[in-house]
Amino acid sequence: MSAMLAGRRVVVSAGPTYEDIDPVRFLGNRSSGRMGFAVAQAAREAGAEVVLVAGPVHLPTPEGIQRVDVRSAAQMYDAVLGALPADVYIGAAAVADFTPREVSGHKIKKTPGSDTLVLELVRTRDVLAAVASHPRRPAVVVGFAAETHDVERYARGKLEAKKVDMVAANRVGVAGSGFESEDNMLDVYWHGGGRRLGPGPKTGIARQLVALVAERLRA
Ligand code: CTP
Repeated sequence: MSAMLAGRRVVVSAGPTYEDIDPVRFLGNRSSGRMGFAVAQAAREAGAEVVLVAGPVHLPTPEGIQRVDVRSAAQMYDAVLGALPADVYIGAAAVADFTPREVSGHKIKKTPGSDTLVLELVRTRDVLAAVASHPRRPAVVVGFAAETHDVERYARGKLEAKKVDMVAANRVGVAGSGFESEDNMLDVYWHGGGRRLGPGPKTGIARQLVALVAERLRA
């Protein structure tokens, strides 16, 4: 593949985060990490120096990539911000929006006579928004979105709200796309434009997304 990103540093986040509740339980999500890993590999193949911040997934590290493993949203925040400065950030991770206010030091037991358990959750810090407003902001910041409906409206809203340059939207809840699938389809939006990538294998879509990013880096 061409060296579209030669001399560039690209930080990619991938996978879910796990937010611990107690020593044996956590809140997670169904992100497989495959899309983010494919994007990291495609960026490497395009000549970039790549840092891949990975949530808990069982995927092999693509060759030539620096991988940082994390578990929680807070750890992902620290690892991604710690990997700056970079030319590009691609936030493909499904970072938890909420985390338990407190992690219990011991396994939470059932209370006799009570049928409910209340978990108090607090908002996590937004990694993508923090990167996009960082003093050493990468030239191109890409967010992901997973939507079941009104994909374009929500994705374009995210461009504004998080001040990012591109949003790659997954339509979830349809066959052949999204979290647990090998294949995917992405609708990519930027100010004044957009492009549909796929449907097709995540590896091919990742290469097309990296080509779009390289184009914007040159623009
Ligand atoms: N993201 C992040 N840090 C968080 C939460 C999300 O960096 N704490 C990033 C993800 O990596 C992804 C994008 O934000 O790139 C997803 O945006 P988000 O607003 O979390 O999406 P939804 O949860 O789908 O939005 P909503 O809550 O509006 O449904």
